[in-house]
Amino acid sequence: ESLKQRNTLHLDARAQLLVSAADEREVIAALDYARAQGLPVVPMGEGSNVVLAGDLAALVLCQSAQQIQLLAEHTDAVRLRVSAGYGWHALVQACLARGWHGLENLALIPGQAGAAPIQNIGAYGVEVERFVEAVHGVYIETGEAFVFSTGECQFGYRDSIFKRNLRDKAVVTAIDLRLSTRRQVHVVYPALEQELQSRGVDDPAPVDVFDAVVAVRSRRLPDPAREPNAGSFFKNPVIGGDQAHALRQAAPAMPAYEQADGSVKLAAAWLIEQCGFKGHREGDVGMHGDHALVLVNSGSATGKEVLAYAGVVIDAVRERFGVALEMEPRVYGT
Ligand code: EPU
Repeated sequence: ESLKQRNTLHLDARAQLLVSAADEREVIAALDYARAQGLPVVPMGEGSNVVLAGDLAALVLCQSAQQIQLLAEHTDAVRLRVSAGYGWHALVQACLARGWHGLENLALIPGQAGAAPIQNIGAYGVEVERFVEAVHGVYIETGEAFVFSTGECQFGYRDSIFKRNLRDKAVVTAIDLRLSTRRQVHVVYPALEQELQSRGVDDPAPVDVFDAVVAVRSRRLPDPAREPNAGSFFKNPVIGGDQAHALRQAAPAMPAYEQADGSVKLAAAWLIEQCGFKGHREGDVGMHGDHALVLVNSGSATGKEVLAYAGVVIDAVRERFGVALEMEPRVYGT
């Protein structure tokens, strides 16, 4: 089965077998089958955070369940269980419409709900871990179900246990979220504040935050449906305070964000732009002209070409700034 229409970079690769599971029972059945056939399992949602470097000798497991179950209503909050296959942006919209707040900052992020905790999706000052109460899933090796609490998920910046100890070992089938029923907003990100200001909104309601985030993202980030991409292609690097200080002396305009532990997070986009890659292209691969952190496939690039280009960018940034960029999407296939 071709996966070309199932990954947002539109890379042409085939899966040995593609299975769509409608519920947890079907997930377990697919895992049983893969085990019997000796096939590795690759869970995949919308493929919005993957580089398919070649064909996948695997059972690619998609999930189609789209449910929001109201688990509990408290005075100022609700608890929901969302099936893994629910589209993330559709979920953000559905919650906003019902007066369940918090997810507005995460509007327009591509992908499905089940993928959200894996890399702890985050944008405009908010990460999903803030709302996650539990993650439900199944171990690939045994077919046994698990439930992890927030703490057990070991969330970090673009990170969780599902990218570490449980890498390739678990399928997420549902997530439990706790959202506020109060008119609560989180507005601390400069680009978001500016957008609200320019709209003349000084006491934003959740819907204003949603609208502003949609506007900023639409302006700055290319729509994968029109310009195939996987969002930010590199993580923002976190470096030691001393190195950051030295870099800032040489380049005072460099964006840098102090972390609580004294380390400093840099803007990968800025580093890449300084190295001349913004809008640069080699064949059908390049870094986007409006946002230097977004790698785009402008035609029929292959996964191998994408990885080679990423390597060139990584080398250039290391050479110029002595900073190691780490790719954000996962690489599958050989
Ligand atoms: N910048 C440049 N050149 C550019 C683009 C940006 O110098 O071409 C500078 C900006 O001026 C700003 C800084 O880089 O000072 C940061 O830019 P931006 O606000 O666009 O955010 P980002 O750090 O590039 C991160 C996330 C995005 C998320 C935004 C908003 C990562 C890897 N990326 O991007 O997440 O939407 O913040 O919160 O942390 C994603 O993960 O796919 C993603 C899009």
